[in-house]
Amino acid sequence: MCGIIGYVGQRRCQGLLFEGLKRLEYRGYDSAGLAWRENGRTECVRAIGNLESLSSALAARAAAGEAQDSGALATATVSAGIGHTRWATHGAVTEHNAHPHSDWSGRVRIVLNGIIENYVQLREWLAEEMIECSSETDAEVVAQLISLHYDGDLSDAVRRTVSVLSGHFAFVAMCDEEPDTLVGIRRECPLVVGVGEDELFIASSISAFLRHTRRVVVLHDGEIAVMRHGAVTVFDVDGLPHRPQETHVDWDEDRCEKDGFETFMLKEIHEQPAAIAETLLQSRANLTQAADGALGPEAARAISRIVIVGCGTSYHAGLAGRMAVERWARVPVEVDVASEFRYREPIVEPGTLVIGITQSGETADTLAAMRLARAQGATVLAVTNATGSQATREADAVLFTRAGLEIGVAATKTFVAQVVLLYHLALHLARARGALPAAEAEALQRELDRLPGHVEQVIESVDSGMRVLAERLVWSPFFLYLGRLSGLVVALEGALKLKEISYVPTDAYAAGEMKHGPIALLGHDTPVVCVATDDRVLPKLLSNLSEVRARGARVLAVASEGCKQIAEHAEHVVYVPVSDPLLQVVLAIVPLQLFAYHLARARALNVDQPRNLAKTVTVE
Ligand code: AGP
Repeated sequence: MCGIIGYVGQRRCQGLLFEGLKRLEYRGYDSAGLAWRENGRTECVRAIGNLESLSSALAARAAAGEAQDSGALATATVSAGIGHTRWATHGAVTEHNAHPHSDWSGRVRIVLNGIIENYVQLREWLAEEMIECSSETDAEVVAQLISLHYDGDLSDAVRRTVSVLSGHFAFVAMCDEEPDTLVGIRRECPLVVGVGEDELFIASSISAFLRHTRRVVVLHDGEIAVMRHGAVTVFDVDGLPHRPQETHVDWDEDRCEKDGFETFMLKEIHEQPAAIAETLLQSRANLTQAADGALGPEAARAISRIVIVGCGTSYHAGLAGRMAVERWARVPVEVDVASEFRYREPIVEPGTLVIGITQSGETADTLAAMRLARAQGATVLAVTNATGSQATREADAVLFTRAGLEIGVAATKTFVAQVVLLYHLALHLARARGALPAAEAEALQRELDRLPGHVEQVIESVDSGMRVLAERLVWSPFFLYLGRLSGLVVALEGALKLKEISYVPTDAYAAGEMKHGPIALLGHDTPVVCVATDDRVLPKLLSNLSEVRARGARVLAVASEGCKQIAEHAEHVVYVPVSDPLLQVVLAIVPLQLFAYHLARARALNVDQPRNLAKTVTVE
């Protein structure tokens, strides 16, 4: 979820680029850098940590007598530059790995967001061409390729480079031979062009340049933007021209920071397809490269038991993870709320793998549980969204979700990212232990890879229906959520979302447990939200729903497309694409997130900062 900014125009651009990066800070990053061209030469400054570190590095450079910048007119006719906030994917967080990256000669520089999946092969191919990369990053590989393909036309070199890249990414390139030109390309990652008076911006988000222009050209997938002399031309990867469509953005800055969405939570719900795609790419790379250590095949075979600990939504992700690990890898798994685990004198021993799940990486109870397990000889794996967080220091191994910074207190995109990462881990263990036929593992992998597209489809198809439903039920005093197996995980998480942001009392239960107590809560018109996507228990669930309806309660169901029986049992049904029952956790949660969201908005509540809740709970 790195941030990109580029500028080409007549103003000195170091300050403009830095200001653009400031506006992209919310995306999360662990290093930053700028490269800009002024008065006939290219300068580059990079720093680990936040933008204050970059600012100090720029000041140190200026104090050392190098060119200064003040936002005034450049002495040369044109200035151009690129900037980046990097969230490490390939290679450690070092100044050397920070962007911008250049080819070996330093004439081509790029900033890149996303992941180049085939960068190892490309790096090997470059080595055969006697070009050695000096960093561990995929971005440098791209810079080297552009330089290799350069034959007097940067856009052509970019186009030829893109044709050999796989993965999803956006990048912006500059080159010494064409000092008045920037070339940007996007494939799945965002990139927008800002059109000013004789100047152009390019960035991951409009917020990076909104102060300077509201005229925007949104690039579509696969489009290449060539920016020079105040004009942008757009091509596809075959070199065919596209007509750039300019729009005027009238958002205020606050709205802009949310990419035009009314709240961070809604923006983050819409970012789920990207969060899943990035997490899958990253975890696949990490797990296949884990030749040794806590996740290597030998260690995977030696695991006798897994214990998953987490709090709130992360605990719910753990419940989904348990089902996948037990079903696919046939390893016994326990899941515990971290605050209980740490005090119940749990039995953990060498051979136990303890997985601490925490998006923030700073939750006090989860950290304490991980520490306790480690002290008792267990191997501890952290699953977190935050590089450099405490969880990464308390663990023997770390797997990162790549959801980007989540600002809304209610977890949404980090949840789906955690679930898909745990599914990847389960498949990895299954393969290492020979627990699943290869064809079945491959089929599940393909289904996982289809999830981003499916989630996008669900968001589009259910959003307005969920709003209407939420507005109709806005003053219901209580909601009961029911589900079985993977549907129960969704019910628990859906109920948590509603209570967190709308303050409406909810309860969530395994549907088979209903008649052992919660059925007493049902009265005429009580809304019951039922997750009916797990077809292994569908007939049982339908019987439970008959009992619900016999009490006059109203059933709202989430079901799989093509499930005909559910319509007889529910007043309102939302359908999600058919997938493996476990994978449907990721699809079925989306309508319930949107339902909670719209209900809270209909109550005029602040969904991003619900009362009494903090994003990171660093106290017990
Ligand atoms: C989720 O919507 C909540 N904000 C909360 O339950 C959260 O999941 C919990 O506090 C755990 O946080 P963590 O993932 O950062 O450890």
